[in-house]
Amino acid sequence: MAESVVTKEAPEGEATRRDFIHIAAGAAAAGAGVMMAWPLINSMNPAADTLALSTVEFDTAKVAEGMQIVITWQGKPVFLRNRSAAELQKVLADNNASDLKDPQTDAERTKPGHEAMLVVLASCTHLGCIPTFGTGDYGGWFCPCHGSHYDASGRIRKGPAPTNLVVPEYEFTAGSTIRIG
Ligand code: FES
Repeated sequence: MAESVVTKEAPEGEATRRDFIHIAAGAAAAGAGVMMAWPLINSMNPAADTLALSTVEFDTAKVAEGMQIVITWQGKPVFLRNRSAAELQKVLADNNASDLKDPQTDAERTKPGHEAMLVVLASCTHLGCIPTFGTGDYGGWFCPCHGSHYDASGRIRKGPAPTNLVVPEYEFTAGSTIRIG
């Protein structure tokens, strides 16, 4: 004798509850997938120590006198500024100016034998905006975000920025070529 199968529709509330359980299980599985995928994705990123060690080389002879070039190092913009004789004379004369908030001589911010070349991170030390070249009261850079004025040595002279533009670790490797980092 053939068996008869009796089917019964679940009451509406029950179906909704069942759907919810399925959805919740699906969401949990998707979450687990992301959790499992994360170590793989994370392992594809460069290690922190690799990032810290990465360097960039650039021939500063490409920067015309009185101009700057912006290069990227570790994802950050860096100003390479070849200061004119007049700019250099001015920043040297200001080495002991009373309005230096973060006193430094220009020589402390450059390399011997390459005094005209200034290398600084293109990040205002107030809140990180990119200052504009050749503007402001001191002819260095001006940060329009909140009005910080830097001289052509990248020293903060006026405005809310607390410290000078940061000089990264760098060296001249051969002739006019520098390696940052
Ligand atoms: Fe430059 Fe505020 S970010 S003055």
